Amino acid sequence: MTALDDLKAKYLTAVADAGDEAALEAVRLEALGKKGEISLKMRELGGMSPEERSTFGAALNVVKDEIDAALRAKKVALGDAALDARLRTEWLDVTLPARPRPVGTIHPVSQVTEELTAIFADMGFAVAEGPQVESDWYNFDALNIPPEHPARQEHDTFFMNRADGDDRPPHVLRTHTSPVQIRAMLDQGAPIRIICPGRVYRMDMDQTHSPMFHQVEGLVIGKDISMANLKWVLEEFFTAFFGKPVKTRFRASHFPFTEPSAEVDIQCSWVDGQLRIGEGDGWMEVLGSGIVHPKVLRAAGVDPDEWQGFAFGMGIDRMAMLKYGIPDLRAFFESDLRWLRHYGFAALNVPELAGGVA
Ligand code: PHE
Repeated sequence: MTALDDLKAKYLTAVADAGDEAALEAVRLEALGKKGEISLKMRELGGMSPEERSTFGAALNVVKDEIDAALRAKKVALGDAALDARLRTEWLDVTLPARPRPVGTIHPVSQVTEELTAIFADMGFAVAEGPQVESDWYNFDALNIPPEHPARQEHDTFFMNRADGDDRPPHVLRTHTSPVQIRAMLDQGAPIRIICPGRVYRMDMDQTHSPMFHQVEGLVIGKDISMANLKWVLEEFFTAFFGKPVKTRFRASHFPFTEPSAEVDIQCSWVDGQLRIGEGDGWMEVLGSGIVHPKVLRAAGVDPDEWQGFAFGMGIDRMAMLKYGIPDLRAFFESDLRWLRHYGFAALNVPELAGGVA
């Protein structure tokens, strides 16, 4: 029996010495595994006499059960210790502020669209929209640009395909947001006070031109609206947008849909190659505008003897470039994540006038 006592003592010591669950498992295999020492001893029982077998077998079973119990107890103890160790090293302070997750940024064009919408909304303008694939009539005829008018050539228009044999004028990708003036007036009549931000398309591509870009149209029709109102609205807008007073300069111009027409420049200066808006004695052209032509009002179902007003069209991308110092328009549409992270805006940074949109 001393051999069995030695065996028991050997494995109970090994169990006590096992420092982790892997070492304990090695002890278990060595003792109780298929080829373990106890298991091999069990096999020896087959060759014994019945008497020997019953005494030795019973004693061996007791030793086996004790080792097994010690192994299980130690396994629970090691498990608890491992959990304690993990709990000591892996902890989370739920009172720490949340870390911002990189969910992407707001594109400068979207940001500026939101900004200018907030500013015009504050002046009582509603937002109107129209389709980007536009009929020839809305994009040109209704705006006093009949088929042979030279202004059609200036627009570098993209035309849609018509089915073979269909000789109606093709639809176009709208070349400006002005067709939304017509849609809004036909829809709502007068008086009206709207802006129409959106995508427009022209076949042109260089550092300051992209075949797709963004404009915002403004339209105000009332009983006694004049160029003075236009000038006030635009100066209010530029001051809110750039966060400081910005002088404007109106230059006589020509658009078929306005009479008189004016191109509007804003005050700027160049210091060490840096453009500064609202300073100095330089001028930067930013939009086209004028008093809505009576023919346009008539085409849109508004009586020009009763109503009049102004319209303007401004490039949104250009405003973003001027405000945020972005030199190349093409980068706006390249979807380069590094560019977006550099110029982009936090998703929660919603422009509102109370804090100043700038
Ligand atoms: N539609 C003109 C353009 O795209 C801008 C404009 C709009 C001019 C409204 C006058 C009035 O150039």
